[in-house]
Amino acid sequence: MIRSDIRSLSAYHVPDSSGLVKMDAMENPYPLPEGLRDEWVRLLGTCDINRYPDADMPELRRRIAEREGLQANQVLIGNGSDEIIQMLLMAADQGPCAVPKPTFVMYEGIAKWLKRPIASMPLKADFSLDAKAFLNMCAREKASLAFLACPNNPTGNMWPRADVQHIADNFRGLLVIDEAYGPFATDTYRDMIGRNVLLLRTFSKLGLAGLRLGYALGDAELIAELNKVRLPYNINILTQLSATFFLGHYEVFEEQAKQICLERERMRTTLEALDKVKVFPSQANFLLLRVADANAVFDGLKQAGILIKNLHAKGSLLEGCLHVTIGTPEENERFANALKELI
Ligand SMILES: Cc1ncc(COP(=O)(O)O)c(C=O)c1O
Repeated sequence: MIRSDIRSLSAYHVPDSSGLVKMDAMENPYPLPEGLRDEWVRLLGTCDINRYPDADMPELRRRIAEREGLQANQVLIGNGSDEIIQMLLMAADQGPCAVPKPTFVMYEGIAKWLKRPIASMPLKADFSLDAKAFLNMCAREKASLAFLACPNNPTGNMWPRADVQHIADNFRGLLVIDEAYGPFATDTYRDMIGRNVLLLRTFSKLGLAGLRLGYALGDAELIAELNKVRLPYNINILTQLSATFFLGHYEVFEEQAKQICLERERMRTTLEALDKVKVFPSQANFLLLRVADANAVFDGLKQAGILIKNLHAKGSLLEGCLHVTIGTPEENERFANALKELI
């Protein structure tokens, strides 16, 4: 009844975090300011939950476009950017989907569900990308779609502007620049949007992961084609109402993102002072670390009440690597102190 290749997959695993300090999911650790929370809750009480949500979301698309300096018809909204990745993999021309490796796991995960081949280019040991080799691979494999997460997850680094521009100019297929971690980075590649370049953004890392709202920005014609594979009513009424409301208070989330960047740099300085930890450069809301025994450190942190991500796989580029999401100052201190005890 179920395809054998699907039966051989594992479901996306979300570890149980009850009772633990949650530093594993690239979330913003700060809650909504109280006054804003009250206002939002009152607003939710006004929605007509008996009705289907607005299917085309012109107002929400207009508000997002306004923020991004584009037109409403250049915005496609998804139930998280995950859903847009799925739409792209459904709609793109036949041919492999090109990705660096390691990168965000859902590109390859969704490609597998849809039986789309993947062409991956291993990063160098310092997690940099050889842009020329990537382009050569795209040409050789006849890739029709490519994803470049800028900054990259799980490595946290940003591909240099000149490299991304070179790929955008020379790739024959559709290039998707995924700026999920854009709010924590020093540059944006939004200006590269064009005939074959699309940008992905999300509200998730900014403090609204629970909403499930992501969007693509691109050429109006391209957006109109992708919109054909969007499920009707993909964004529920509560999310639509909330997103429109929070767009009016965007500065709250920008301020929190600034705090997270400051904390990231403070945490980097603290961890770099430990000689048994290698800290990789990050422009995201997390740090990638390498330690001698990642499994033991991960387990020890869990026992100390802290949940992070263990990316260790023997023989892989991520051997010995741990991934920690930046928390509040207190959480970061607790993490750093626990780590010092474990290495
Ligand atoms: C690079 C990247 N893109 C997209 C996503 C998906 O974000 P969401 O579906 O929450 O919008 C993530 C989530 O971790 C990510 O790391």
